[in-house]
Amino acid sequence: MTQTGPNYPRNCWYMAGWSNEVGDALLRRRILGEPILLFRTADGAPTALTDRCPHRFAPLSAGAREGDLVRCAYHGLAFDASGQCAHNPFSATLPKGAAVRNWPVHERDGIAWIWMGDADQADPALLPDFNTLFRDGAEPVRGLMPMRAPYEFATDNLMDLSHIEFVHRGSFAGAGVIFAGKHEVRRDGDRLHSNWWMPNVPAPGHTYGIYERSLPTDHWLDMRWDAPASMLLEIGATPVGEPRETGVIIHQAHIITPETADTAHYFWASTRGSGVASEQGDAMLFAMMTQAFEQEDKPIIEAAYANLDGRDFWDAKPAFLGIDAGGTRARRLVEELIGRETRAA
Ligand code: FES
Ligand SMILES: [Fe+2]
Repeated sequence: MTQTGPNYPRNCWYMAGWSNEVGDALLRRRILGEPILLFRTADGAPTALTDRCPHRFAPLSAGAREGDLVRCAYHGLAFDASGQCAHNPFSATLPKGAAVRNWPVHERDGIAWIWMGDADQADPALLPDFNTLFRDGAEPVRGLMPMRAPYEFATDNLMDLSHIEFVHRGSFAGAGVIFAGKHEVRRDGDRLHSNWWMPNVPAPGHTYGIYERSLPTDHWLDMRWDAPASMLLEIGATPVGEPRETGVIIHQAHIITPETADTAHYFWASTRGSGVASEQGDAMLFAMMTQAFEQEDKPIIEAAYANLDGRDFWDAKPAFLGIDAGGTRARRLVEELIGRETRAA
């Protein structure tokens, strides 16, 4: 099916940023094609406004904070956190209709989420849970990578971790263990699971320093997907036959937000295999993740998208390998959600 119209549903929570990115400063981030201004009011509430002054359309992010007001850098109109014009330097009268849109924001698990659909459907209960990122009592190591490809191309990459053995030869590759693994994709409502199970393999990299490298382990990679592209990966291993809870487990967030129809923000975070936070260990983990994402995943994902030369993904008739079922089903489910929204409109 050729896709027309936007490639993302609107009635979903999208990650706008890590909580620690949203502060006093005016942060501009394009989300679903809209320029969004993010900041935190004095009472600590994260706020999202359209970053376009209604007068002559200057970005409000180029202006300045005055308490909870944001004053436009061009002719000085000031807006409150609800988006209403609250001060006009040229008159005691506020200009009619001068307001910017305020978008619902909800903060949980160190993530600021934005809702860009029907505001009355913005239910925090729909937020996918990422609290395992904080399970070891420390902030996860985290980052943001810009991608010149539609967000679904990152989903394809993440829902099909078979690419590890090829793309990540320089980092995460596991000496071919994934080839003997069992892969299962399962749908649970609007949620998908794309899970790998690799019994009786040498201890995987994330356990080094805890298990002997020669220790036979059961290893798993469980990816949970929530629409449109919020993914939680559990990387685990135990000595063969031991219960999972006793294993060495890392949780990673891979959350992709469309910047535009063909570019994306790739937010990632990771806990530590040892569970112990240290400045040096965190810096090493950050460097390793950044290198793997920026120098291994990003170039191949961007090159693959560019190589379509503007063709629609399905029109280009992708070959199916089976291992790619996770990405395929995520694409289909997103199309289903967009279809539901279109019919409801
Ligand atoms: S463009 Fe903002 S006050 Fe004129
Ligand atoms: Fe990857």
